Amino acid sequence: MKSFYVKTFGCQMNENDSERIVAVLRRQGMTPALSADVADVVVFNTCTIRENADNRFFGQVNMLRERRVREPGMRIVVAGCLAQGEKDAIFDRAPHVDVVVGTHAIGSIADLLERSDEERHVIDVSTGDGSIDPMVDLVPEPAEGHKAWVTIQTGCDNNCAFCIVPQVRGPEVSRPFGAIVDEVRRLAEQGISEVTLLGQNVNSYGRDLTKRLRRTSDGIHDHGFLAGPVYVSDGIRRIRPLFSDLLRAVSGVDGIRRVRFTSPHPKDMREETFAAMAESPAVCESLHFPLQSGSDRVLAAMHRGYRGERFFEKLELARSIIPDLAVTTDIIVGFPGETEDEFEATLELVARCEFDSAFTFIYSPRPGTEAGAWTDKFVDPEVIRDRFERLKLVTERSGAAKHRARVGKIEEILIDGPSKRDANVASGRTRQNKLVHLAGVDGERLRGSYLNARIVDAGAHFLHGELLGPPARGAHASC
Ligand code: 5AD
Ligand code: SF4
Repeated sequence: MKSFYVKTFGCQMNENDSERIVAVLRRQGMTPALSADVADVVVFNTCTIRENADNRFFGQVNMLRERRVREPGMRIVVAGCLAQGEKDAIFDRAPHVDVVVGTHAIGSIADLLERSDEERHVIDVSTGDGSIDPMVDLVPEPAEGHKAWVTIQTGCDNNCAFCIVPQVRGPEVSRPFGAIVDEVRRLAEQGISEVTLLGQNVNSYGRDLTKRLRRTSDGIHDHGFLAGPVYVSDGIRRIRPLFSDLLRAVSGVDGIRRVRFTSPHPKDMREETFAAMAESPAVCESLHFPLQSGSDRVLAAMHRGYRGERFFEKLELARSIIPDLAVTTDIIVGFPGETEDEFEATLELVARCEFDSAFTFIYSPRPGTEAGAWTDKFVDPEVIRDRFERLKLVTERSGAAKHRARVGKIEEILIDGPSKRDANVASGRTRQNKLVHLAGVDGERLRGSYLNARIVDAGAHFLHGELLGPPARGAHASC
């Protein structure tokens, strides 16, 4: 019996794809290994969003070179976004890799592995078979027993000038409404109580369905699209479901206590989505809202489709509709041509937005992207470093203030397990997705439980809480 190890780089979409890869390999009778050093098959599920993701992968795959030469039966598979976009570079820089499998071909990994007994350098980077639900046979195995990712849409139809995702993930494809709700129901039956809906642009969910529905000659009835009152109410067919319909349906599934989603695009964000968030008790008060830049000229050059002020108005609207909303963001520093004034506009807007936290990135030129070709406008790395540090001060200031404001509050915490550093401390998340440590609480026993705690202290990246009363014996997800 062969063993496998899957190493994941990058975003939650990749994490979820890795869970599908695990399911495919298990179906072949393979068993998980404890590490890449002892596995018969090592799968790297790669990311290529920034250059350092590429470099980390090449560093790790090259550490397996000697072992691959020593053990002819061992196999190395490279999956994910880098595999889709850079198959030649992979074989050039890591010729000991056996299989390259793109983002649309996860289901064929087992066949490709079989072929690798006969052929060197087996490749499948085909771009999907156009099926209505490309994931129908690729049910992921959640890595944790109490929460799970659910992919609702693959690809992206936007063309942000810095971003390689549309190249490697292809055009936007929404999964059928019914398939998503069924997946969530199945997960809930297995004891999962928190789901995170995933897509590159979740709030445009369904946009592509209109076109595809028009193309299907046998109508929509045979494809599981008619999953509820969304499309047909009183016999009237609506053209497509909105993301807000999906939020409402998923949060109504029995056993689901928390619904999150990532990432929405600010330009497509409608008041209707905020209303659905506020009206669906399971949808958490947490929003990832990627700003990217505070300068209108830079936003236009990025093709983001909104101005800074419009972003701010939508943020204020969200906060007015959803009480106690926590907001996180993404910001890129040093986009080609970014001037000092433009960077200061970012600092100003970021300060006004008062984010709970921000993922800040140094611009990384990506091959084949529009901005990647603007080499004459690249910003000096020293200047970028300095801007990056200045931006961090501003985001950390609002993050610390948001954390301090939670001290004294009583929060519902979903326990994820023991803290990584100390087995006598349990770690979990509030509805706002803030990490909370609870000293003297058995995280192993209470994994998956919802407990109330008072927040007693706030650090930069986590909170400390005190349990309100002892947890019930055998406390679990329903407590
Ligand atoms: N360079 C730096 N950051 C990038 N991102 C996407 N592409 C790049 C790039 N080329 C960031 C964006 C996006 C997040 C997932 O990664 O901020 O929202
Ligand atoms: Fe990339 Fe823009 Fe699509 Fe996000 S919306 S995946 S940043 S192209």
